Formats: sequence, structure tokens, C-alpha cells
Amino acid sequence: MIYVTRREHFNAAHKLECKDWSISQNDAVFGKCANANWHGHNYDLWVTVKGSPNIDTGFVMNTQILSKLMTTYVTDVLDHRNLNLDIDLGGLQPSSENIAIWIWNVLKPHIKNCELHCVKLQETENIYVEYFG
Ligand code: NI
Repeated sequence: MIYVTRREHFNAAHKLECKDWSISQNDAVFGKCANANWHGHNYDLWVTVKGSPNIDTGFVMNTQILSKLMTTYVTDVLDHRNLNLDIDLGGLQPSSENIAIWIWNVLKPHIKNCELHCVKLQETENIYVEYFG
């Protein structure tokens, strides 16, 4: 089994808050991510697929195709958007955890002839999440 990873990038705004909490409670839990007037993150997204190398190409998956899928279904949809307002997370917080799960669900049906292994989403240089389905 070989693992292949492609990275893409997007910028997006969000705010993390529980509307029935006080401002100080939201600030205590979410820190700067609770900022009332929004803020942005520079997100790096790594998508890893796994499988066996194709006999003709030697590829598990053509990374040009993986890049195109990530661009079409994820970064074109999320880049320079408001993650609270512009995508449907079913009422969940637009945390990196929930965004990574959203990305997994969006990409999974389009991964052919190999398996989606991991969606890694980096929100800051010190924080990233990984989702394995
Ligand atoms: Ni934030």
C-alpha cells in the first residue's frame, strides 16, 4: 500500500461561538476565534489517498486529477468565503475538525480506483487536524 498526498491552500473567515453562551464564556473557550467581527485563517489542506501503483502510470492516483478534485470541490467553494455563512455544516461549528469532515464527505465520492485515507487541515502553524473517515 502506497500513500500519496496533495496539498492545496485556501483562505477563509469564520467565527466560533455558542449563541446561548455569554461573551466571556465564548471568549474563554474559543479565544480569538470568538471575535465578534470575524477573522480569517490561511488554511493548508493535505489530502492523502492510498492504493497500489497503476501498472502503466506507476501512480496510485494522478495528482493532477487529485488537485483538480480538491480545487473544484473544496478550495473553489471555500476560498475567500465565510465558513459560518457560505457552506452548510448542518448547524455545526466551523471548526477545523468539522471542516475536515465536510471536506472528506465532499471528496470521497470522487476518489476512484484508490481509497481516500486522510484529510489534514492546518489552521495555524501550530494546529492541524486529521480525519481518517
Ligand atoms: Ni479562528
